Amino acid sequence: MLAPSTNEDREWMKELWVNEFGGETVISKGKEHHLRDVEALIAWMDGERVGAATYRLSESDDYCELTGINAVIKGSGIGSELLAVVEQIAKQAGLKHIWLITTNDNVDALRFYQRLGYRIVAFHPNAVDEARKRKPAIPLIGFYGIPLRDEIELQKLL
Ligand SMILES: CC(C)(COP(=O)(O)OP(=O)(O)OC[C@H]1O[C@@H](n2cnc3c(N)ncnc32)[C@H](O)[C@@H]1OP(=O)(O)O)[C@@H](O)C(=O)NCCC(=O)NCCS
Repeated sequence: MLAPSTNEDREWMKELWVNEFGGETVISKGKEHHLRDVEALIAWMDGERVGAATYRLSESDDYCELTGINAVIKGSGIGSELLAVVEQIAKQAGLKHIWLITTNDNVDALRFYQRLGYRIVAFHPNAVDEARKRKPAIPLIGFYGIPLRDEIELQKLL
């Protein structure tokens, strides 16, 4: 079951972002997003929170940016379900596309997004190195021991 986040989800969301993203902010294409400023959807299973997606709708620019997505249990459909609902919300708001940034080490996410119809539209070399100067919690080594350096931008037309 998915539900928009409420004040009661705040602490859990904060812990999720601190564990997964190293703090209460994420940086994409040089822009910093604070958890308190993004919309969030929570995935629930048997009364427990099992995932979350955060996003921003930009009606003036016709797009939605997915600022974060996490499944506590991987590979069981939680991420796909969350993303489908964010797309639905963006479409209903009349937006034309959804985009997101992932990092060069995140090969599982690259597979996940492309299987769901997202296309790689830009590569931002060393963008993570730049973000790390502002957010030192970003590790030097990412998934599978891959040096974490670059941002990869993906997009899907709605
Ligand atoms: C990326 C993520 C949100 C995907 O959510 P998920 O619930 O695991 O994905 P789903 O179960 O809906 O899987 C969809 C497909 O991706 C595959 N997949 C996704 N993440 C995977 C992983 N970590 N390991 C293996 N397979 C994975 C699934 O096996 C499935 O494959 P299929 O299409 O062949 O059936 C989740 O793995 C996650 O939380 N990753 C860590 C945080 C992260 O990297 N977020 C993205 C930041 S840009």
